[in-house]
Amino acid sequence: MTIEEKAAFLSGKGEWQTREFDRLGIPSIFCSDGPHGIRKQAGAGDHLGLNASLPATCFPTAATIANSWDEKLGEELGETLGEEAMSQGVNVLLGPGLNIKRSPLCGRNFEYFSEDPYLAGKMAASYVRGIQSKGVYACPKHYAVNSQELRRMAMDSVLDERTLREIYLTGFEIAVKEGKAKTIMSAYNEVNGTYANENKHLLTDILRDEFGFDGIVITDWGASNDHALGVAAGSNLEMPNPGLDSARELIAAVESGKISIEDVDARVDELLDAVMTLYVNAQNKKDGFDVEAHHKVARRAAEESTVLLKNEENILPLKPGAKVAIIGDFAFVPRYQGAGSSMVNPTKIETVSEIIGRYDLQVVGSSRGYSRSGADDAATKKEAMDIAAKADVVLFFFGLNEDSESEGMDRTHMRIPQNQINLLQELGQVNPNLVGVISAGSAIEMPWHHYFKALLHCYLNGQAGAGAVLSILTGDANPSGKLSETIPRRYEDTPAYRYYPSKERTSEYRESLYVGYRYYDTAEIPVLYPFGFGLSYTDFEYSDINVTEDGVSFTLTNAGKRDGAEISQLYVSLPSANVFRPKKELKGFSKVFLRAGERKKVTIAFDDKTFRYWNVKTNKWEVEGGEYQIMIGASSTDIRLSAGIKKAATTDVLPYEKEALSTYYSGKIQTVSDKEFETLLGKPIPDGKWSGQLSANDAICQLYYAKSGLARFAYNRLTAIKKKADSKGKPDLNILFIYNMPFRAMAKMTGGAVSMDMVDGIVTLVNGRFFKGLGKIISGYFRNSKLNKQFESKIK
Ligand code: BGC
Repeated sequence: MTIEEKAAFLSGKGEWQTREFDRLGIPSIFCSDGPHGIRKQAGAGDHLGLNASLPATCFPTAATIANSWDEKLGEELGETLGEEAMSQGVNVLLGPGLNIKRSPLCGRNFEYFSEDPYLAGKMAASYVRGIQSKGVYACPKHYAVNSQELRRMAMDSVLDERTLREIYLTGFEIAVKEGKAKTIMSAYNEVNGTYANENKHLLTDILRDEFGFDGIVITDWGASNDHALGVAAGSNLEMPNPGLDSARELIAAVESGKISIEDVDARVDELLDAVMTLYVNAQNKKDGFDVEAHHKVARRAAEESTVLLKNEENILPLKPGAKVAIIGDFAFVPRYQGAGSSMVNPTKIETVSEIIGRYDLQVVGSSRGYSRSGADDAATKKEAMDIAAKADVVLFFFGLNEDSESEGMDRTHMRIPQNQINLLQELGQVNPNLVGVISAGSAIEMPWHHYFKALLHCYLNGQAGAGAVLSILTGDANPSGKLSETIPRRYEDTPAYRYYPSKERTSEYRESLYVGYRYYDTAEIPVLYPFGFGLSYTDFEYSDINVTEDGVSFTLTNAGKRDGAEISQLYVSLPSANVFRPKKELKGFSKVFLRAGERKKVTIAFDDKTFRYWNVKTNKWEVEGGEYQIMIGASSTDIRLSAGIKKAATTDVLPYEKEALSTYYSGKIQTVSDKEFETLLGKPIPDGKWSGQLSANDAICQLYYAKSGLARFAYNRLTAIKKKADSKGKPDLNILFIYNMPFRAMAKMTGGAVSMDMVDGIVTLVNGRFFKGLGKIISGYFRNSKLNKQFESKIK
């Protein structure tokens, strides 16, 4: 390959494809989102879910499936996804997403598995195994520390090394080591001052050298900042379509000695290996897939992932022939997936209102009850109340609207629309037998939960969700899902409440390890429904714990009258710890199906993660010495069995001075002083404040600070359009993307129309030097066109 061919190979040729080189017999490969269904765009491509894609099965999203705690199910979903991808000519499936749910407000939480890295990693690894078994590569994303949507492409996540390792990387480690992921997507953000895609510590030292990753790193769409530094750090493919500007940048970097030709060769080799393997894999490709069979998989997946949060007086399952009222717009137009790049065009959709006739229930009436727009409507409310008054049981379908959670924006609160709550309160006046069916991709505040006798949390359960819900309501299926995230009482209780989302250049992860239950548990903050919680229609008893060096075993008995599955969780704690740590941490789990009356011995093996912590002094995983408590729980707060095991220390070097980090030792981390955070970081806190000058890496929304009147005018126009769309309840994803996108992305996503030189001109212009900027843009335009033509002739 010539240097030009090598350089051009390392960036995309369009929205979804890599470049082919006919002369060399190198084909092009096709990437598609994911992750809960295939979003292959046959026509115009975009990465925001705007243009239509080919019909594919819309499975429940990751936030939902994580509630199944079922790796076999994850693998089966992966296989089904892999089969659909292959049948549509997709070689790399851009998922699963496994960023940690640092705050319930992150707009993409519906796409992520958990607040816990172990559970997220295990589920991700299972998807990866399934997808890759079909000859398609999975692409776990977004590596790493990408837990905020606001200014997601221009945000620096600042955190200490231990938190990075234990919370934000462990899931990826499992996906790579156990799932053998062959591609990884590097995140938009910086991590401790270096873009994730240029971060050698992340991409080479940790990913390749420590985790043993032997695949390719693909940038998130527009995440490349300095392509040459990316290549040197271990990133293979810049996506989507920077034209040939990036290739030129790479050649110039080799010529100037900024990076070495060996780095380029290594990345080309790795990419070639992937492209040729994927090409060969696709030779057996079969067109089409069994739509009905995959719909059934989606249905079973939804059933296994539904969480029963409460069930007073055993109101569920419904009695055969029960008179029910169906209330709520979601029963007619289900909320079953999220918005943005993961948006799937389903093969079909079932709704509760259409299929309820298949069940042994008497429907006394149905009403949409409330409007999706949020407005109160007296007439529909009255209709709903009249129907509710006639029923034995009211089934109320409600939750978060489509516009509340989306890629590209974070929520500003955790509430559901007030008009739904208003209706609920009135329904409670006419019928006390209320059963709530929630659809929401993330944790919500539930100050209204006492209105319900029973509550089912369905998350976003895919195209076959309605059937799954009805079979659980009627008892055809026994719920077995458990929460993969905590439902706090109120947003103010959440650990990152004071730090999230950051509006400055830096996002300070001051809460450190104390994410989700790790915080609530340690700081003793009461929550509404704890991590790992979920009810069943049967009862499980735990007995006979036995701990050995290899793991823990116990007996699980289905002591109730129905068959069912139980998720048992292994938590580990070190009460005598000298190194601060959460009160307990999840280190294993098992899901076991038992017939009524059946009992089984369950074993959960220990692994390399059971006792380890990251020691920032030795710079290694170490084990602290002491007597560990091994706990088996039905949830994180419902520990049924426990026993001790002694472990010897692997080092006597203690990483911290207790007095200097007292907040972290107490776990009460909602307010961490600068001094203490600085001590934890081991370096000064970087200055995240804005300065007067904007740069290529500042987001468009920072035009607010622009010196140029024209630029501020553009900002005001953009903001007005955004506000108008927001106020209509339909956030404009295009505008949101532009708003949060840095100037440099104009060069990275326009297929060669804009070069980095021209971006430099734009930045000069917005900084108030209009004519100088304009001059640079115009000269840059002509230079770019000329250089593009010259380069194209060299790679033909
Ligand atoms: C998202 C990725 C997605 C990519 C391609 C980006 O904006 O962050 O998750 O895979 O677009 O659509």
